[in-house]
Amino acid sequence: MSGTRIPFNRAGLVGDEFRYISEALAIGHISGDGRFTKKCHELLEKELGVSKVLLTTSCTHALEMAAMLLDIQPGDEVIVPSFTFVSTANAFVLRGAKPVFCDIRPDTLNLDESRLQALITPRTKAIVAVHYAGVGCEMENILATAKRNGIAVVEDNAHGLFGRYKGRYLGTFGALATQSFHETKNFTCGEGGALLVNDARYIERAEIIREKGTNRNRFFRGQVDKYTWVDIGSSYLPSDVLAAFLFAQLENREQIQTQRRRIWEYYAKRLNVWAGRNDVQLPCVPEHCEQPWHMFYLMMPTLAARQALIGHLKAREILSVFHYLPLHLSEMGRRWGGKEGDCPVTEAVSDRVVRLPFYNELSEADQARVAAVVSEFACG
Ligand SMILES: Cc1ncc(COP(=O)(O)O)c(C=O)c1O
Repeated sequence: MSGTRIPFNRAGLVGDEFRYISEALAIGHISGDGRFTKKCHELLEKELGVSKVLLTTSCTHALEMAAMLLDIQPGDEVIVPSFTFVSTANAFVLRGAKPVFCDIRPDTLNLDESRLQALITPRTKAIVAVHYAGVGCEMENILATAKRNGIAVVEDNAHGLFGRYKGRYLGTFGALATQSFHETKNFTCGEGGALLVNDARYIERAEIIREKGTNRNRFFRGQVDKYTWVDIGSSYLPSDVLAAFLFAQLENREQIQTQRRRIWEYYAKRLNVWAGRNDVQLPCVPEHCEQPWHMFYLMMPTLAARQALIGHLKAREILSVFHYLPLHLSEMGRRWGGKEGDCPVTEAVSDRVVRLPFYNELSEADQARVAAVVSEFACG
């Protein structure tokens, strides 16, 4: 079977992006916190019911802000899954924290809540819960463990905007949560992110940290007559041009989610029998979780089968990718003593995951081709 190349990802346009960017340019305020940044803040605060949303230049930067807000100091420990993107850990390491790697559940690939208590020490300051593929971690249990031990919970919700756990939006459980608007995400502006502040005690300092450590926001609100350097911080505001792009996407969230749902459900239905025959596991979405249709992955039976499938697809001009390499076995992770066997589920899973092409504008014909080519592949 042949055809045009099918990429793994492609940023989609909903149509209003250019109009809003032109509007931002016409207004003449294209630095941070202009009209469209405010519109994004209002939309997300209203829809999610979060006290304060602050757009940032990336999810990585929102995580760095979270680490500053929690006053992470050298020697503090922060529990993170080993199966995640580097920024989940790096943001805290930048403040001097030791990352303590937790294994994941074999079903949802989320933090294994049953292992948390054993990893907590008097130095533990936070648990970072990553909602893998936008499927919620077991938040009730994680929050109870954190509360019992007096430690904070941060949700790295890079994948999960508009996903829900037991009816409640992801990103609304932890004291702080972070979003990504990188081009691989459901809603994008190329590079971007957001910090969600659920604990109102952090709002004022979050504004300061995001504005280079100054009280500029208070100045703009007329609460002080000049602004000055009051705390640590950096420049985490995206340009309003990016916010204009993002607003178009967020405003059209239903259209985007409908497209993505169709793609996800097609893969799940079309590949179900093939998966059963080939000992391949399809994504697990527990009944109490509503997923945001972020990604579709296959859990292959072995590393060899995973690599062979990627090669089989590539030979037919279809690009698929794998992730994450276990953080505890990375060069950095080993500096904190990470070694083989520490997180057995992560180690087994990271060799076997493969993600299929998934983007808003993936056509039905292209998707049918992906599914057909996958189905031709026999494991082992
Ligand atoms: C779980 C997770 N956290 C954080 C990030 C970083 O996001 P960004 O590229 O917006 O900094 C990613 C990136 O994909 C991610 O997968």
